[in-house]
Amino acid sequence: MNIKIAIDGPSGSGKSTLAKNIAKALGLVYVDTGALYRTVGLFAKRCGVPLEEASKVVKFLPKADLALKYTEAGQRVLLNGEDVSDLIRTPEMSMYASAVSAVPAVRAFLLEIQKKMTTEGGVVMDGRDIGTVIMPDADVKLFMEASAKARARRRYEELCERGDTSTEEEVLKDIIKRDSNDQNRTVAPAIPADDAIFIDNSDYTPEETLKVALKIIKDKLCRTL
Ligand code: DC
Repeated sequence: MNIKIAIDGPSGSGKSTLAKNIAKALGLVYVDTGALYRTVGLFAKRCGVPLEEASKVVKFLPKADLALKYTEAGQRVLLNGEDVSDLIRTPEMSMYASAVSAVPAVRAFLLEIQKKMTTEGGVVMDGRDIGTVIMPDADVKLFMEASAKARARRRYEELCERGDTSTEEEVLKDIIKRDSNDQNRTVAPAIPADDAIFIDNSDYTPEETLKVALKIIKDKLCRTL
């Protein structure tokens, strides 16, 4: 199917789980745009840029070559040819990603690679500004919500599975800080598009969320056909 679905929402709101499930159900390519910001965060750290001075990454950007690759295992992200997909999934990289994502030159740097992905066939893309900036013409725009507590619990469980030792309180604190950074930045803040449809999945399983989303997609597409 050659349709475009935008999914936005705060961290831990279940965007990526839903996006992967929709991609599988409808045969679309899933693009995780957060991975790009995380990779720039990793690059900033490797360049010696302190978290509190994230904008200093800008002068190093010409030396960063980012690419997305699609394999059986899903999306992989390459930084100067190195697969960094696993290295970017730490709490430290979450905070770095949020910090660099507020820098206008970083957003401009990542715009082209994201826009390109929207022109290569059916896609479901998740992030913070997909419905507002990257795919304002998406066929369906979903905005995911869940309480901060529910989101922290999910992130905590995910991190535990990866062997991370953060406590649930630390994860909640990071989530609240990131929500505030992402929603209050001046460029492309993480806010819903005017025509986004909200899904609060605090009390839904991933399967229930998928069912709700597929119904919304079907209704929306029937109306526009
Ligand atoms: O979705 P995620 O947690 O992997 O995203 C990491 C950070 O990247 C998030 O705190 C905000 C930023 N981000 C963004 O600003 N715009 C996007 N489209 C995706 C992510």
